[in-house]
Amino acid sequence: MPEKGLFCGTNKPKDAANVTEFEKKHMPVVECPSEVKAGVPFQVKIKVGEIPHVNEEGHFIQWIEARFGENLYARVEFTPVFAMPEVVLTLVKHGKHDSGTLRIIERCNLHGLWETTKEIAIN
Ligand SMILES: [Fe+2]
Repeated sequence: MPEKGLFCGTNKPKDAANVTEFEKKHMPVVECPSEVKAGVPFQVKIKVGEIPHVNEEGHFIQWIEARFGENLYARVEFTPVFAMPEVVLTLVKHGKHDSGTLRIIERCNLHGLWETTKEIAIN
């Protein structure tokens, strides 16, 4: 069976115990609290990636999105060379649920979508 292309779906490391250099350059690195209070703003620091991704006109990170489940909370677009794919977002989670999955998704113009998820408890 042929392997799926990088632009088919959202990419994650194939083996979480053995993340490749290529994967480390694309996976968003996310720093945020593991527990937040409903209705109280909190910060999410994001960069791409653990090994810095190139930032050239022909190969760059186009945007970063923050979602809880399918709900879009923020989207930041980047112009290559002039802006680094690093951002601090201030989000507010309201308390309909006890926890939520924060999904940070980035798009590389050559290598597609990459996602990092974090479970956040909501008090
Ligand atoms: Fe890339």
